[in-house]
Amino acid sequence: MQTEQTTNHQKPWQDPLMAHVSGFRTGTDDLSYHIDASQIRGKIPETLQGIFLRNGPARNELAGKKFGHWFDGDGCVHTFRIENGAVDYRCSFVKTPKYVDETEAQQVRYRSYGHNAPGGFFRNLHMPANAANTSIVYHGGKLLTLFEGGLPWRLDLDTLATIGPEDFDGALKGMDTFSAHGKLHPRTGDYFNFGMGGGLKGPQLSLYQIDQQGKMARRGNVAIDSMAFCHDNAMTENYLVFMVMPVTFGSLFKVITARDTIDNNMAFRAELGMKVYVVALEDFSLVRTFEVEPFMYAHSSNCWEKDGELFIDVVAMNDEDAEVGTAFSRNLFSQPRPATGAMRRFRFNLNTGASSTEALPCAVPCEFPQWDMRRTGQESRFIYTAGICENETPGFYNAIQRIDLLRGEASAYDCGPARYTSEPIFVPRSPDADEGDGYILAVIYDANTKLSELLILDATNLDEEIASVPLRNHIPHGFHCGFTALP
Ligand SMILES: [Fe+2]
Repeated sequence: MQTEQTTNHQKPWQDPLMAHVSGFRTGTDDLSYHIDASQIRGKIPETLQGIFLRNGPARNELAGKKFGHWFDGDGCVHTFRIENGAVDYRCSFVKTPKYVDETEAQQVRYRSYGHNAPGGFFRNLHMPANAANTSIVYHGGKLLTLFEGGLPWRLDLDTLATIGPEDFDGALKGMDTFSAHGKLHPRTGDYFNFGMGGGLKGPQLSLYQIDQQGKMARRGNVAIDSMAFCHDNAMTENYLVFMVMPVTFGSLFKVITARDTIDNNMAFRAELGMKVYVVALEDFSLVRTFEVEPFMYAHSSNCWEKDGELFIDVVAMNDEDAEVGTAFSRNLFSQPRPATGAMRRFRFNLNTGASSTEALPCAVPCEFPQWDMRRTGQESRFIYTAGICENETPGFYNAIQRIDLLRGEASAYDCGPARYTSEPIFVPRSPDADEGDGYILAVIYDANTKLSELLILDATNLDEEIASVPLRNHIPHGFHCGFTALP
């Protein structure tokens, strides 16, 4: 057996828990190149055609000085156009004012989640600058980056040129927000999103319905008890479900006066309770509320109605992550193990007001739940997540999990030493394939080579690696992905 010292000497990292950190280094802007079949490990199936979309922070520092938080990094969009067994890869930073101005100045000019702008009170009288870095969707002919603190930013799908902020013909105003987690209704093709807001009307959820042509078809709002953190929601055939957890500012005064950064001031305040708001899709009216034991979460999986009950599956964060200061405020540039949790199901009876919760099968601590999006709003069998398995380098998401709710089983694919995944997404083998019959696509960052690849697994058996598409560059650790058919 090798000694630890010998092992470390042979590895491209010193600390196994921090081997992922090189994946935070700044990515390259405006790349475009072709990867033909001979360069691909394995073979991309003929039935897999489309564009894999990926967004995430790709510049986490300026002039050698790290930003305060992973959430602050400037967004960069990556597309993999998969056609006839080959791939056209492209990437581009979103040219927001934050990116453009700070690139020119080579210093921080804007307040962000984890750091304030230099200059004190008057330079920080605004929300965190829009970094366009969180999620991505192609809907209604528009490629949109999503950042919950501001408007979506639109890019050209073919060139990734930045078009600008998207306000849907003026339907979104300057102070409106638009979450990172809209939901596509599979039966109507409409896209629903929301924003958390305040103002004279008090705390509220702004609700948006965007039709298949990319037009704002309806706006609405629902009053909520207090300004709180609500990153995701869920959608059934007829309802939107918001589980608003009690994460808010510890001292709003300190934030407003720039005596504190936002992340440093966020607090999990269980005494405020946690309310669930059920909203009708047809008119955005509030249907019913429920109270649950407060817990911390960022992302939900699928949600559906059955016999008067709503079922919603979420990643409930581990207790040790339920204190802010560890979950969303952890400095991953210098600390290992991003937030993870376990899958948990909630049931809400719309007739009686009763609710209950139960644990779901889970093989690894997990995050970024995904499902077969054709089943959104209907009972579904499979959940796919990123996770952390106990391999040599468990400091970051290093596993892809598949949960079979029918069989009550969960299994995980180990990405390998110093190899890390981002959100895995499911793509069906064909439009009418059975649920779960298809592929898992995920960007892998390999700290051994300091390069990234697009990994394609068989969704019916995660041990079956179908193909891996190598890149000449790295994609910094990011957040959310998407997939769209070839135009
Ligand atoms: Fe998210």
